[in-house]
Amino acid sequence: MGLVNLLVRGLGIAIGAQVGARVAHRIRPRPYPAPLRHLLDHPARMQYRDPVATLGPFGLGPGRTVLDVGCGAGTFTVEMARQVGGEGRVHAVDIQASMVEAARVRVAAAGFSERVQFHHCGAYRMPLASDSVDLAVLIASLSEMPQPLFALEELRRVLKTGGRIAVSEELPHSGYVPQRAVRNWLREAGFRYGGLRGNPFCYSLLYFNDG
Ligand SMILES: C[S@@+](CC[C@H](N)C(=O)[O-])C[C@H]1O[C@@H](n2cnc3c(N)ncnc32)[C@H](O)[C@@H]1O
Repeated sequence: MGLVNLLVRGLGIAIGAQVGARVAHRIRPRPYPAPLRHLLDHPARMQYRDPVATLGPFGLGPGRTVLDVGCGAGTFTVEMARQVGGEGRVHAVDIQASMVEAARVRVAAAGFSERVQFHHCGAYRMPLASDSVDLAVLIASLSEMPQPLFALEELRRVLKTGGRIAVSEELPHSGYVPQRAVRNWLREAGFRYGGLRGNPFCYSLLYFNDG
């Protein structure tokens, strides 16, 4: 009986902590804590976030210019660099300097430094030319921004006409927002729906920039 009580209590505390973290995030969105960046590559996450499988539907390819918004520790940046090839270019943006540095080290270790340009800045204003990006990818990052529409407006500026934007969210991330909210943001920002992959636990929305 004592053990059951302990388990129930533990479960209650865990659920309470999860709910608290999510409510707090909804009230005041904030960037993922950099000291926990190793968890972004945790094998449990990789079960549903394998970089090749995640990026597959987004349409990367040789020679493309891809923007990794909120690149974190570079979990997806390396695979993006591999897929764009020697003629392509990846812009990796993050608001936290330590994340940018971690991604830079990782990309260098993979031998792709020439293909990736790092930018320590926020997504509301990026040092990129207008109409210069083929694909913008936001994995578990748009939901960390207090003003997602500011970022989407900036992304419309930097995306080429006919360019694409992929927004992906996952339930274990405390900033997780359901698909409907992300769809509303993307529509409000003027993007055209292009498809949905995944399930409510981990989904990716693809939209087009019609110019
Ligand atoms: C949960 S992490 C995800 C990192 C990476 N995309 C991944 O999936 O492994 C979200 C990242 O977005 C960054 N971020 C949050 N707000 C941002 C903003 N306004 N502009 C740029 N990056 C931001 C955070 O610093 C953090 O590194």
